[in-house]
Amino acid sequence: MAMKKAILPMTTRLHELSLATLSEQTKPRTEQLFHQYLAGIPASELKAAMAYTLLNGGKHIRPLLVYATGAIFDAPLENLDIPASVVELIHAYSLIHDDLPAMDNADLRRGKPSCHRAFSEGLAILAGDSLHTLAIQIMAGHPAPLLKPERRNRMITTLTEACGPYGMAAGQALDITIMHDRDISIDLLTNIYQLKTGMLFSACIELGRLASKDDDAFNQQALMRFSKALGLAFQIQDDILDMEAETALLGKTKDTDTINRKITYPKITGLSAAKDTVQTLYQEALEAINYLGDRANALRDLTRQLLERKK
Ligand code: IPE
Ligand code: IPE
Ligand code: MG
Ligand code: MG
Ligand code: MG
Repeated sequence: MAMKKAILPMTTRLHELSLATLSEQTKPRTEQLFHQYLAGIPASELKAAMAYTLLNGGKHIRPLLVYATGAIFDAPLENLDIPASVVELIHAYSLIHDDLPAMDNADLRRGKPSCHRAFSEGLAILAGDSLHTLAIQIMAGHPAPLLKPERRNRMITTLTEACGPYGMAAGQALDITIMHDRDISIDLLTNIYQLKTGMLFSACIELGRLASKDDDAFNQQALMRFSKALGLAFQIQDDILDMEAETALLGKTKDTDTINRKITYPKITGLSAAKDTVQTLYQEALEAINYLGDRANALRDLTRQLLERKK
């Protein structure tokens, strides 16, 4: 007889869950929310282009960062569902636009034709715009009886600062305008990485905390140190994988950065030094959350898994 999938008993506190259980229990929740909002879209090709990237085999790191951080403070799951979904919507939008011919001109994403190759450039632009706007719509209006309006407002500010012209959009603009400069300094490159990738990572962590009752400046600052190190390490790894991982495993065309003449972190420091930096940054991240003890087990395990990632 087929076993019914376990459902979280109401008494389970999130901080007691392993990373695997947290992931298994929460992925259907964000997917359900995506389906709910995709269902009503009155343009079938736009809906298909949005779903194509949103529901298409990403690693779901950003939602998991939200849930694992919320778990430290036992945030209500219903509160976490909103930011967890929203950061994946923003991420999906950023990938669609990042792959466009006017940006990285990448034909392959997650082992499949990128959105503009599967649909059209026009639909890919609109799908990105729509995922972006839908994220704000959900952040501002999706019902969550336990989420106080004041917390929701802080979440909206955190999210929009991280993805707009003070965050990811600025980083992406600097990426396509000055990352070809042979004389680019490590400091400037680090700043670009913080903007294009790090700020959304940091937002995931802060949104997870804001979904709970925690209002401790020490926690906020410690988690900020954690997320800054993690986000930077993640992008440097992405650059290393671009040079080292095979296309079939990576799901993206190997050497895309070289083809686009991008001066990335490992291009300046060499692969070996870049790998050392990644290790150091992960240690920094883990040290920043050490004081949280067992409550941060899921977040710690996720961090360790990211350190080992091969794609
Ligand atoms: C890729 O992010 C873009 C970067 C910020 C480096 P991910 O590696 O998280 O992409 P998916 O969602 O798992 O495909
Ligand atoms: C992407 O950086 C950062 C984003 C904000 C999308 P990359 O351009 O290196 O990401 P990939 O390698 O295409 O996933
Ligand atoms: Mg790019
Ligand atoms: Mg790219
Ligand atoms: Mg890359």
